[in-house]
Amino acid sequence: MAGPLRVGVLASGAGTNLQALLDSVHGEEALVVAVASDRPDAVALRRAEDAGVATAVFALDDHPDRPARDGAIADWLAERDVQLVVLAGYMALLTSPLLRRFAGRVVNIHPSLLPAFPGLRAVQQALDYGVKVFGVTVHFVDDDGGVDTGPVLVQRAVELPGATTAQEVMEQLRPIEHALLPEAVRLVARGAVSRDPDNPRRVVVSEN
Ligand code: GRF
Repeated sequence: MAGPLRVGVLASGAGTNLQALLDSVHGEEALVVAVASDRPDAVALRRAEDAGVATAVFALDDHPDRPARDGAIADWLAERDVQLVVLAGYMALLTSPLLRRFAGRVVNIHPSLLPAFPGLRAVQQALDYGVKVFGVTVHFVDDDGGVDTGPVLVQRAVELPGATTAQEVMEQLRPIEHALLPEAVRLVARGAVSRDPDNPRRVVVSEN
């Protein structure tokens, strides 16, 4: 691939995963060239501004509906020649106008070992179930209408048999997230990621 991978990030909240990208792969194998949010007050936007990265807000109220909003986001990302879209705590569900435009080029980070505990409050779901092993998944986002159902790119587990609160689990998962997301972006940037032709659910990572 010629030059660093041009990355666009969508974030709704604190943006600590965005910060992890800015502090690691940004300026190396990848360049974060655009950060957009559905929320004008997202701290992630401030982090992007501090790093000199272009930002934009796409509030649902400013668009006729969700697909129209997502089409506008896709236009904005395409104008910046974004090659990979990273969902880093983006709390809105994406629709076809963005997902088809960036087919196979959208990844999401989720604080569970998918397919266990998709959707909201994943860590609390895991605690309620009583699991002993928690973890983080970075997966592709497909236009199949499912939530957190796309093919898995990378996963990392941690055994926390005594955990009782979501806060203590998240304290353990945070550093894992902040390592795993840059790792996933680095792999895509290096061209190390492909799909198994016999099973497109299986993402092949060929790291030398
Ligand atoms: C992370 O836990 C991520 O796994 C989930 O949303 C959270 C975002 O955190 N999808 P931050 O905004 O990056 O700090």
